[in-house]
Amino acid sequence: MAEIYRREKWATRIGLILAMAGNAVGLGNFLRFPVQAAENGGGAFMIPYIVAFILIGIPLMWIEWAIGRYGGSKGHGTTPAIFYLLWKHNFSKIIGVFGLWIPLVVIVYYIYIESWTLGYALRFLLGLVPEIPTQVGDSDSYLQPFREFLSSYIGSGQDFLKPSVYAYGIFILTMAINLWILSRGVSKGIEAFAKIAMPTLFILALILVIRVLLLETPNGSAIQGLNFLWKPDFSKLGDPGVWIAASGQIFFTLSLGFGAIITYASYIKRNQDITLSGLTASTLNETAEVVLGGSLAIPAAVAFFGVANAVAIAQSGAFNLGFISLPAIFANMPAGTFLGFLWFFLLFFAGLTSSLALMQPLIAFFEDEFGLSRKNSVLITGGIVFFSAHLVIFLNKSLDEMDFWAGTIGVVFFGLLEMILFMWIFGGERAWEEINRGGLIKIPRFYYYIMRYITPLFLLILLSVWAKEYIPKIIAETHWTVWVTRFYLIALFLFLALLVFIAEKRKAQEVGVAEE
Ligand code: PHE
Repeated sequence: MAEIYRREKWATRIGLILAMAGNAVGLGNFLRFPVQAAENGGGAFMIPYIVAFILIGIPLMWIEWAIGRYGGSKGHGTTPAIFYLLWKHNFSKIIGVFGLWIPLVVIVYYIYIESWTLGYALRFLLGLVPEIPTQVGDSDSYLQPFREFLSSYIGSGQDFLKPSVYAYGIFILTMAINLWILSRGVSKGIEAFAKIAMPTLFILALILVIRVLLLETPNGSAIQGLNFLWKPDFSKLGDPGVWIAASGQIFFTLSLGFGAIITYASYIKRNQDITLSGLTASTLNETAEVVLGGSLAIPAAVAFFGVANAVAIAQSGAFNLGFISLPAIFANMPAGTFLGFLWFFLLFFAGLTSSLALMQPLIAFFEDEFGLSRKNSVLITGGIVFFSAHLVIFLNKSLDEMDFWAGTIGVVFFGLLEMILFMWIFGGERAWEEINRGGLIKIPRFYYYIMRYITPLFLLILLSVWAKEYIPKIIAETHWTVWVTRFYLIALFLFLALLVFIAEKRKAQEVGVAEE
């Protein structure tokens, strides 16, 4: 037999929980959640959101932790190999390729957005930000300076984007920071960093929340923003669009359906608890999302511009709330540039602990399946990400397209497959045992039925509604940059599938040689 190399393990339980929370708490909590909530009617959004957390978030999270820990105990941290352990059929490896493809596609745009947060943080720290009018007046002219600031940062155009040199330089710096932490390994790199970053992040967010909640202008107050977010609107429960958005947010914010939780979970010791740790990490994420994320962008925008304008800003573009309106609001307050710095630094730390998690699957794949050293695995992964990111940096609409296929539809599809594989093909009772082994809390038995029947059914319905709505739109798309992106995404998938195939052949040979 080939020599069995020892996979790394998380050093401590608290480290594991913080690393997992760092994985989940990201730009999604502070940028995506407020936009989704505002676009989907505020209070109308929170009911489906909480239902999705209970019916999709929690069960899928336990399943992913269990699948990952199981794979890790057999030397594998990524889904092509792990799914094959669950289902001895070649088809499982193809499905498993999605578990490499999704995090790879997402990291390509995620890390670019993360780099903007660092770029903005540094600019605010140095005070190099635009002047804004002192009177709030109408939101349009008030926001204009920061709108221009953003568009000169990332560049704007029909087909090609021309980011500033500064933006490109900061992107390289962001890549380097990520690769440096990752090259230190799971416990000395990711875990050690999470132990610093997560407490820092919570403190920063808390400071900003307190400041925002004190806001009051003639246009409104932060408290009105909270009312808007938390006043339930039961009439919206019949709207499938709100359910889709809420479920999509649960996937994204909890990092579910990406393969990233599975890889992190593969470094858990075989008999170590996952039931309580998984629940704790998810609770931390939800706290960061609804309590902290929910008390920043929306309440601030409502206080300055009123509910209607705040909603309009959120709808005008995914980044307008976080990169235009919030900095403009801070800039007008005493110590405003420093508050702006805190906001973007908070985003940077949130993004960084998540981008590490998005990159780790491919790194683990090279280590586990090709037997490459950690350093080489990190370098190759970094090279692929860096190369691919140029599409997002220079081609208009590429980012949204990637986010749609991998970060929105892909995760739901993959989440459903995981559940079927584990709860049906691997076997319901075996899976249940695997989840509960070493558990510090006992999961109520009704979750067994949720995992086996309710959630898969729910996801199936979601995907069908989606397909009906989107397939015509997808085909009707004419913008060439979108098609270039689509072909690139297919090429990436084939490339990963090829790597899985080669890894397989090499292993078969090694075993062959050892047996001779
Ligand atoms: N959950 C992260 C966020 O909210 C995104 C993410 C997904 C990170 C998958 C890692 C893996 O931003």
